[in-house]
Amino acid sequence: MQKPIGIFDSGVGGTSIWKEVAKMLPRENTIYLADSANAPYGEKSKEEIQRLSIKNTEFLLGRGCKIILVACNTATTNAIDYLRSHYDVPFIGIEPAIKPAALHTKTKKIGVLATKGTLSSSLFHNTSKLYAEGITILEQEGKRLVELIEAGKIQSDEMKELLIGFLQPMLDQNMDCLVLGCTHYPYLIPVLKDILPEHINIIDSGEAVARQTKAILEQNSLLSDRNVQPEHIFYTNANIAVIEDLIDRPSAKVFYLDF
Ligand code: SIN
Repeated sequence: MQKPIGIFDSGVGGTSIWKEVAKMLPRENTIYLADSANAPYGEKSKEEIQRLSIKNTEFLLGRGCKIILVACNTATTNAIDYLRSHYDVPFIGIEPAIKPAALHTKTKKIGVLATKGTLSSSLFHNTSKLYAEGITILEQEGKRLVELIEAGKIQSDEMKELLIGFLQPMLDQNMDCLVLGCTHYPYLIPVLKDILPEHINIIDSGEAVARQTKAILEQNSLLSDRNVQPEHIFYTNANIAVIEDLIDRPSAKVFYLDF
């Protein structure tokens, strides 16, 4: 029960999920693995994404994690079935929040910003078919966005120009909900709010994933019952300053590791 929750991502983006988990499960220790040296995963082959996801999973299991959160849409859509069938701990994945967007949209036009790896996956297509019948999904690959976020260039001119280029065609087609289909993208919300008209609903999966993590821990009697400050450890194979800035939690321990 006192074992940590393991979280991995292709880089720093999954810390947007970690924040929700740490808020909803304040007694849980966590270990976060940022494979930034291999980011972005979104343009890699399925085999390569699986290989990296196995490496990350084994790293976290080697540190005693009781559950693994695959805090990366691309790794979820391409590798979670494999992980679930080969390892004996629960896995939580991230799917683009098509269902809540389908419930909110009035224009019946939903924009989805995600990586090529997510947009081309069968899980994404099945989710869209299941939850968005009669709704037009406007897909847009967020090419280069992950690299800029990994480089700490969230507020850069290049970021703004890219986003305007991606979003304007969706606005022209009357989208009223924008699904952030990559865990890096919640860090773009302040920039997106400057660009998008106020009535556009921006939807991400963070809170739903934290709720799901809590439910699975409860079902498996894995919830921590400790009443002390939790320990949050981060490992990255790139620049630790980028993670430290994003998580903004001085008590967390952030380490560089060449894994
Ligand atoms: C990427 O590494 O390309 C993005 C990660 C994600 O899909 O969440």
